[in-house]
Amino acid sequence: MGLVATHQTDELAARALAHRRCEPFGIAIARKVTSGTLAHELLGIDVAHDDRGAPYAAGTDSPLISLTDEGDLVACAWATPQEGSRVLGVGIDLADPSDFDRENARERIVRLMFFDEERALAKGAGLDDRPLTWARLFSAKEAAFKATSQALRAYYRTNDEELFFEVRDFSSTSWDEVHGVARVGDAAYGAARLDIQTIKVYATEVEGLALTCAIALGKGEL
Ligand SMILES: CC(C)(COP(=O)(O)OP(=O)(O)OC[C@H]1O[C@@H](n2cnc3c(N)ncnc32)[C@H](O)[C@@H]1OP(=O)(O)O)[C@@H](O)C(=O)NCCC(=O)NCCS
Repeated sequence: MGLVATHQTDELAARALAHRRCEPFGIAIARKVTSGTLAHELLGIDVAHDDRGAPYAAGTDSPLISLTDEGDLVACAWATPQEGSRVLGVGIDLADPSDFDRENARERIVRLMFFDEERALAKGAGLDDRPLTWARLFSAKEAAFKATSQALRAYYRTNDEELFFEVRDFSSTSWDEVHGVARVGDAAYGAARLDIQTIKVYATEVEGLALTCAIALGKGEL
């Protein structure tokens, strides 16, 4: 199985996950395979899905994994938190700018998905009219949402309380190489219950698509 864009994925994985005591970790993209095949070939695991559709390594939940596909590309991110690691979850997402390039579609999605602060952020960076900008902001929400899923699954093992998250509830707080992601509304309450202190989002571009990796971090220094 041939991996694509290895330079970008290695660099993104290093930015997001190096020095966080979660080795082995990585991000990989392949073409024309299923997400299950990619995870199996890369990590030697079988992928199961929980009640919410989130993937995990069957039987063990280790490493933490996240999957995404767009067009004929499939991406996988993984991390293996060791003692003392703050990493509670990883999320990976590919988003296609062309979903945001038709005036009508863009208006609708942008109105539905983004907060005023995010629109201001994009405008402030002089990027308000570029589909890639919206794809990146959208991808950040999806990756952040996915990065909460592993902590949520652990929470449900010992708690009866239902926690509700929506992708829309995650909001970018800066326009930079590294986006901070705030949680608002129900997601803020939920993240606090999961002991998630912060979610960091790291972005790059692969074959014209926005590729985003989010990590949910608990208490600690690193
Ligand atoms: C989950 C979601 C983010 C996936 O994004 P998408 O753009 O549809 O698809 P992507 O290709 O990026 O990702 C698909 C992968 O996401 C993963 N996934 C699905 N549900 C997930 C979840 N709840 N948490 C983490 N990952 C999830 C799966 O691995 C899936 O691939 P697979 O079925 O081949 O294993 C999207 O479907 C979504 O927004 N769902 C609504 C979520 C929501 O707001 N729910 C509220 C009630 S819980």
